Amino acid sequence: MTLSKNLINEFIDVTSSAAIATYNYIGKNDKINADRAAVDMMRSKLNKIKMDGKIVIGEGELDDAPMLYIGEKIGSGDGLRLDFAVDPVEGTNFVAKNLNGGLSVMALAERGNLFNAPETYMNKIASCKDIPDNCIDLDFSIEKNINNLSDFKKKKVKDIIVCILDRPRHKDIIGKLKKLQVQIKLIQDGDVSGALLVSDKKYNVDLFLGIGGGPEGVLAACALDAYGCFFQGRFLFKTKNDINRANAMGINDLSKKYNLNEIIKGDSMFFATGITNGDLVKGVEFKNNIFYTETLVTHKNSSINIVKKEIAST
Ligand code: FBP
Repeated sequence: MTLSKNLINEFIDVTSSAAIATYNYIGKNDKINADRAAVDMMRSKLNKIKMDGKIVIGEGELDDAPMLYIGEKIGSGDGLRLDFAVDPVEGTNFVAKNLNGGLSVMALAERGNLFNAPETYMNKIASCKDIPDNCIDLDFSIEKNINNLSDFKKKKVKDIIVCILDRPRHKDIIGKLKKLQVQIKLIQDGDVSGALLVSDKKYNVDLFLGIGGGPEGVLAACALDAYGCFFQGRFLFKTKNDINRANAMGINDLSKKYNLNEIIKGDSMFFATGITNGDLVKGVEFKNNIFYTETLVTHKNSSINIVKKEIAST
């Protein structure tokens, strides 16, 4: 089934309104209430849409309500059967501290086509489109991936730019990247955006890698699929609780490496509205009682990859 392009405007309104809902919390050092405002708005907007919707990637499970939780039903209950991945505020620190990069993000696909995963970490690797088979792989060494990418892109290793979250867990990888003398773009948070930087030459990133949130990995994968980019991910289940939740969701091979086509199948849409300014989109602006937002939209089947501007009056 193909998702109609006509749905785009209705869904832009969801992330755009969620982003606007956080406006009063930008720079207020209050991650919890910024997130709550976005969650409440996203839920209320989603519930007004005629559809039989379900959250499959959300912020925890039922116990963690009032978050949009995994398994939550959304929409009127009739109409298109859709699965959703949501991150009402991606980069809560950015929003709390008024730093660049805060987004409100959502992806959707037909029921059963979006990977159903618990909230856990994921080891990820992403690169541009048309990557040949066996060029890049989560299981290759850093050196092999960089050298193969350098051959494929006909770029010297020293000119390859790698984006990675600045975390102590990445010390080894970063050490190897430094030894190779590639250019490193360290990001403080926000690895949905980080992964998407491989989608267009204008962002100047050749490879994204490292461990970040699993939900963020699935969300980025949806957009990267629409761009025809490369992505692989492996969930990391550390605690017994993580493992039990994964098993309950039907994940039995806990060390499986997922290719893009195993994370997202068929047609899909992705929406990322800027809360604060960022590489992908501008943040929410408020002028003369009017809110202005920018949303990055991808729709796989219609090959739409655009930034849409929205206006909402108070
Ligand atoms: P939040 O918006 O939920 O705070 O997530 C921000 C983020 O940087 C994600 O983009 C990333 O996937 C994750 O946190 C990394 O987790 P951690 O901060 O635990 O390393």
